[in-house]
Amino acid sequence: MIDQKIFSKFPVLHTERLDLRQVLLDDADLIYAFNSDIEALSHIARDPFDEVDQAAARAATFRSDYLEHKALWWTFVLRDNGTPVGYGGLFGIDADTSAAEVGYGLVRDHWGHGYAGEAVAAMVSYGIGTMRLHRIHARVHPGNAASEKILENLGFLKEGVLRDVEYARSQYFDMSIYGLIIP
Ligand SMILES: CC(C)(COP(=O)(O)OP(=O)(O)OC[C@H]1O[C@@H](n2cnc3c(N)ncnc32)[C@H](O)[C@@H]1OP(=O)(O)O)[C@@H](O)C(=O)NCCC(=O)NCCS
Repeated sequence: MIDQKIFSKFPVLHTERLDLRQVLLDDADLIYAFNSDIEALSHIARDPFDEVDQAAARAATFRSDYLEHKALWWTFVLRDNGTPVGYGGLFGIDADTSAAEVGYGLVRDHWGHGYAGEAVAAMVSYGIGTMRLHRIHARVHPGNAASEKILENLGFLKEGVLRDVEYARSQYFDMSIYGLIIP
């Protein structure tokens, strides 16, 4: 069982180069930058945002999901200069099965520096060490090689492929499920 006390104060996490802090309403510009970039969404079944209000609504949902103990969404900030580079979270938190899904994305300017690997490692480590999760999984569009590698580096195993399970931009998306079981 997940100790619900972990939701009493939002956890700030640290990696070698990043601070991970709660997504704020002020992060709408970051969320918009990611979600309005069709290349960043190429492996994600989502219609691109066309106005920043959609990003603000997403940030508000992240906050209410935290208050309802359903999710933790972090903004990834470069410690050196305070630049927010992306965001991610543990969501779909299920206290009965001690399980959660992990998701993440970086604004394209910040790809290729290993930031997501650091951030995902920190979120997963928090899920294991503090939340005592038994299972963490991720959905990855086949061909999203960097995302697959990040999960494999952390010991996630590919469990299978859900075919045509998501739909956006007039096409179906397969999704591989990557899972990590913590005994
Ligand atoms: C996927 C994403 C998060 C990767 O973040 P990143 O920090 O730029 O990742 P990197 O480029 O540093 O690569 C991460 C790892 O994948 C490897 N990699 C990158 N591109 C690769 C490729 N084409 N083939 C094989 N491995 C690749 C890197 O070598 C690195 O592995 P290492 O840590 O063992 O050296 C980022 O590209 C992104 O935000 N994409 C859009 C959103 C998205 O797809 N989110 C994930 C949804 S499941």
